[in-house]
Amino acid sequence: MNAPWKSGGPGGRDQFAAFLCDEASLDVVRSLAIDLGWQSEKCHKGGLRNAVQSLSITASPNILLVDLSESGDPLSDINALAEVCEPGTIVVAVGQVNDVRLYRDLIASGIHDYLLKPLSGAQVRDSLAQAQAVFTAPRVHDAAAGKQHISTAVIGTRGGVGASTLATSLAWLFSADHKLPTALLDLDIHFGTGALCLDLEPGRGLTDAIENPSRIDGLFIERAMIRANDNLAILSAEAPINTPLMTDGSAFVQLAEEFRAAFEMTVVDMPRNMLINFPQLVTDVNVVVLVTEMTLASARDSIRMLSWFKANAPQTRLLIVANKVQPALAEISKADFEASIETKIDLLIPYDLKAASMAAKLGQTFADANRATKAGSVMRELAREIADSGEAQVVSGPKASLLGKIDFKAMIPKPKKKKAQATAQ
Ligand SMILES: Nc1ncnc2c1ncn2[C@@H]1O[C@H](COP(=O)(O)OP(=O)(O)OP(=O)(O)O)[C@@H](O)[C@H]1O
Ligand SMILES: [Mg+2]
Repeated sequence: MNAPWKSGGPGGRDQFAAFLCDEASLDVVRSLAIDLGWQSEKCHKGGLRNAVQSLSITASPNILLVDLSESGDPLSDINALAEVCEPGTIVVAVGQVNDVRLYRDLIASGIHDYLLKPLSGAQVRDSLAQAQAVFTAPRVHDAAAGKQHISTAVIGTRGGVGASTLATSLAWLFSADHKLPTALLDLDIHFGTGALCLDLEPGRGLTDAIENPSRIDGLFIERAMIRANDNLAILSAEAPINTPLMTDGSAFVQLAEEFRAAFEMTVVDMPRNMLINFPQLVTDVNVVVLVTEMTLASARDSIRMLSWFKANAPQTRLLIVANKVQPALAEISKADFEASIETKIDLLIPYDLKAASMAAKLGQTFADANRATKAGSVMRELAREIADSGEAQVVSGPKASLLGKIDFKAMIPKPKKKKAQATAQ
């Protein structure tokens, strides 16, 4: 699995266990367990009662498949199971009673799924895949605390100002220094460097998402994203130059929604032409990092973009970062630039060719490869500023399980002559 969340359970728990009453069901589940790389000896003969007995003396598995066929009162037996099961276990029930009321009661009590016998391989495989996706998705710890999610878009006022350098660095810092589950979405579909900066292959994930937006869900992002470190997953593309971008933007909106549910931080490397084609992309962005250089053209476009954001995303916090700053060689001085855009620059990152070359050589993000430099330390300051941002949005907690003790339903959830020329358009 590529996604940055844990696939194993805490404290040596087995990934899977099954308690089934009949040999035919055991055969189906054993062969699937082997396919999925799980231990087939964890498929036991016996139903719900055996499961309760066994789990009262052993650690609960991540996913538990349990047969209700021999249970006279499945709902109360499920309560007994809740007593011995550790929090977080995803329970899939199996039975031979085709009764919608029972199904609803079981689902309401926190059972993940109910499968009808005779079992088919495909049906069990689908259900286990979903159970696994639910288990591996990051948990919302509790409803009261909620979960923060901060979405940051990094946008350059001109080409080559260092927006991607900053986007990849921020994503790395959030994930490695702040230990926050982070998604990096590189929306430079043809020429993106997000994966390249991390020395990774972009894969087909983003291309698949654009081609089939309806397929985007928690499971899709888990499979499609490329893992960069324990807390960082990236979705990017290297679309062929002869292939135009064919999308109405719905895939990007859908992805942002899934990221909100599955990660605590999203960083979007957003080429500025994307703002023109898909202005809806900024609706739910909490922070925009506007990356600029101290040039006349950058001043003009900073003014235009600041004005655009004021009109189209007034809720978004804007941070202006001047990159590649060389005071002695600046086309426009800091004072003139700020006077021109009528806003203070929040952070200045010095031009540091050695640092850029070090990052390229190591196949690491700029910030990661250059911790001891001034440029790296300003990037860390920016990451801290955003991570501590009061703009965080709280995602509501999970639905309370009637069983309480078992967290069955912890779903993936959610310039002065020049200055005069630089006018807002
Ligand atoms: N502070 C810096 N000092 C020196 N070089 C830098 C600095 N920041 C970025 N660079 C270099 O500038 C080049 C362009 O950076 P990057 O690709 O991040 O820009 P971009 O704004 O994303 O460009 P594009 O418009 O093509 O998307 C890269 O080679 C990068 O290493
Ligand atoms: Mg770029």
